[in-house]
Parts: sequence; C-alpha cells; structure tokens
Amino acid sequence: MDAREMKIKAAEAALTHVESGMRLGIGTGSTAEEFVRLLAEKVAGGFRVEGVPTSERTARLCVELGVPLKSLDELPELDLTVDGADEIDSSLRLVKGGGGALLREKIVAAASDRVIVIADESKLVETLGRFPLPIEVNPFGLVSTRIAIERKAARLGLTGGLTLRQSGDGEFTTDGGHYIIDASFGRIPDADALSNELNSIPGVVEHGLFLNMASLAIIAGPAGARTLQ
Ligand code: 5RP
Repeated sequence: MDAREMKIKAAEAALTHVESGMRLGIGTGSTAEEFVRLLAEKVAGGFRVEGVPTSERTARLCVELGVPLKSLDELPELDLTVDGADEIDSSLRLVKGGGGALLREKIVAAASDRVIVIADESKLVETLGRFPLPIEVNPFGLVSTRIAIERKAARLGLTGGLTLRQSGDGEFTTDGGHYIIDASFGRIPDADALSNELNSIPGVVEHGLFLNMASLAIIAGPAGARTLQ
C-alpha cells in the first residue's frame, strides 16, 4: 500500500463516523483532501452535510466537488471535525500546521464536539518535535517576536533553528495574512509548558501544538486502519 492509499484508508474509516445531517469541520492537507473526495461521493448520493472549511484551499476543493459549505459564523457549533496532522503521539497530542492552516484548524477544532485525526502511520511519534513546529506570527514586530520565541523556548531547554517559512517569491502568508516561523526543536518533552510560553507572546497568533483537542485518531498502515483513543 502506498502513502496515498493509506491516507484513503484513514479517510474511509473517518467517513464511517459521519452521519447525514451533521455539521462538519473539514481539515486541510493531502489526507483531509482524500476525506473531502470520499465525502463528495456520499453527498452526490444524497447524503446531507454542511461543512466548514479550515482553509481557502479546502474551500476551493469542496466547491469544486459539490460539498455544501457554510462559514463558522453561520455554523458556530460543529458536531465533528475531520483533519490531518503532522505528528501524533500516543496521548493524541498533535503537531499541525505543515500546510499553514493551523489557526483556522484550531478555531474549527475548538468549536467541534469531536475531532477525528486521520493520518498514515509515518505521523506517529513517541515525542512531539521531530516535525518543525509551525508558529503563526503577526508580521508586525516579527524580529521581536522571533527573539521572544527563542528566549522562552531556551528557558525550557529547547534550542534549534527558527525559519521564516517562504513560498516562491517571498514570505509564506496564511489565509489570515500572517507569517509562519517553523521551529526545529527536534524534541518537545513538555508540550504543555511550551504551549503556555508561546501563548504568552503577544506577536504569536497561534501555534501548531494541538493538545487535548483530538478525540480519536485513525492511523492507516499497510495492514489497514486502526483507531487510537
Ligand atoms: C495543515 C495541517 C495538515 O493537517 C497537516 O500538515 C497534514 O497534512 P498532510 O495530510 O498533507 O500530511 O495541519 O495546516
């Protein structure tokens, strides 16, 4: 089974948790897009859902495939969100934001009764941090914010390169008009402490540590999909 087939397996398993009539948060990334494709087939067959996309990219795919969308203001409380992740540990703590959609993903996840994470098994880690942690920052005061991130992280014993994410001809800009600093810490032994420190920096808009947010993870490997909860 190749990586795409594993993503499809995880997405198929997530779809069994979706019931007609649900208000759905719809994640971002290649795995979430497999979920959108399968969901669109169900919608074409008469299944009724209303989706809130976590990015403009996901919104475009949903519109193209005929998945009905609402804004989060129109549907402020959601039954379920299905989204991918960059890392998942055994306590269902996540690193997200590799696709740059972490802010909307976190807002949508927080508005959802349940969050199902779908991934292939390469995303499972013992300790978070191997994947560079995306930190969404306001462009105003970028240098000060970067210094503050370095200092707060160093207090927790975390060192590593901070890279301002680029895309093509300049800084990568999120759907909300912010920048992303990717922090290569290697290992984040105390994710709660780091989350608190980052949340205390005014220029940090949000970060990619999703702690106590996932209800269930569906992990696909060559032998099929399994559930972690
Ligand atoms: C986007 C995300 C994605 O869910 C994460 O990057 C996983 O993407 P993929 O399924 O393509 O590996 O957090 O901001």
